[in-house]
Amino acid sequence: MSLKEALERKIIVCLGSGGVGKTTTAAVLALEAARSGKKVLVMTIDPARRLRSALGIPEVGNFESRVDPAIFEAAGIPMAGEFHAMMLDTKSAFDDVIARVAPDGATHDAILKNRLYQYVSTTLAGSREYVAAERLYDIYRRGVYDLVVVDTPPTKNALDFLEGPGRMSKFLDDRIMKIFLLPMTAGSGLKEAFIRRTSAVIYRILAVVFGDQFLGDMNSFVWNFRDMYGEFRRRADDLSAILRSDAAAFMLVTSLEKERTHEAGYLARQLLGRGYRLNGVVINRVNTVALGAAPVSPEEIEKAFFPDVCDADRPLARRTAALLVRRFDYLRESARRDAGAVAALAASWGAKKGVHTVPAFDADIHDLKGLDLFRKTLFDGLAGG
Ligand SMILES: Nc1ncnc2c1ncn2[C@@H]1O[C@H](COP(=O)(O)OP(=O)(O)OP(=O)(O)O)[C@@H](O)[C@H]1O
Ligand SMILES: [Mg+2]
Repeated sequence: MSLKEALERKIIVCLGSGGVGKTTTAAVLALEAARSGKKVLVMTIDPARRLRSALGIPEVGNFESRVDPAIFEAAGIPMAGEFHAMMLDTKSAFDDVIARVAPDGATHDAILKNRLYQYVSTTLAGSREYVAAERLYDIYRRGVYDLVVVDTPPTKNALDFLEGPGRMSKFLDDRIMKIFLLPMTAGSGLKEAFIRRTSAVIYRILAVVFGDQFLGDMNSFVWNFRDMYGEFRRRADDLSAILRSDAAAFMLVTSLEKERTHEAGYLARQLLGRGYRLNGVVINRVNTVALGAAPVSPEEIEKAFFPDVCDADRPLARRTAALLVRRFDYLRESARRDAGAVAALAASWGAKKGVHTVPAFDADIHDLKGLDLFRKTLFDGLAGG
């Protein structure tokens, strides 16, 4: 799938291992879509501080805010559409979820005050991915954007992002939860009586281990959530179906280091194995500076750079020319090696059309001009580097 085609989807998820350029790619895809007239939201998780401030994204809260068109204008980027950005803040996003699904005010307040909830919503592994997915679902269902581009945390957790909602509803559904819930419900069957007895024992043990207070929190947590299981599951299933449908596209971002391509391969297999599609791969930081350049000799360099140095300086000129040639040969060789690696990756993924490369730039991408340069190399076929 071409990148332009991907921009026609409703959701693009950028995945990849740590530091490969997911956040930058997500911002760049959003930039291209917004430039060409779409109303776009980039949902980012951890943008570099300077990029965030360049875009004027608020540090806390989950506000979707439109980036001031004047900022693009000042950077010489004509903007036909709208560029919105949001940084995910786990705790307040979690509270928003509860506000949406809680059946009444009393349940809502009881959950927010509960210590176990406070732990789950801030510290529990995967809670960030869970709220990211919840948030995405909510935004998608509101239908106010033409496109939402989602940035994800590094690899290990990237799949948690996809599985997050399901896992959370499983967690809430779990047998252990039922055991907590049962003593408070009025089942009269033999099975219930058995579980109630088992619960009583488990309770006594847990009370000794964790203390009564914790148990009380656990109890009311489960009790307050009892009516929400169904809603959590429904939302999780719905998002999962959306992400597996043609409404969504997945972009894998990687660089060419062995470790990274290895992780990218793992991620791609996981993705496909779970029924998602992989719609494109962005290979970032490719060495392209001297790609296809013809070799030069030290003599040619010497002639071109130091045509008329005096005899005394000649040895220095010669040494400098030799150094330049060595550096040039190194760049030619890395460009050749990278081109080979890109071709090999494209072949191994069997997705040649969907493999895109971005050169390594001299400096970090921390402002709109940098983003636009990155964008041009992806979309306008500019060589960059
Ligand atoms: N092609 C490039 N040339 C130069 N610098 C780049 C390039 N791509 C990304 N960078 C820089 O590399 C750093 C990491 O990029 P980015 O934050 O997009 O990666 P990430 O995959 O989101 O990282 P993390 O896994 O930590 O979230 C940033 O400072 C960014 O500006
Ligand atoms: Mg990032």
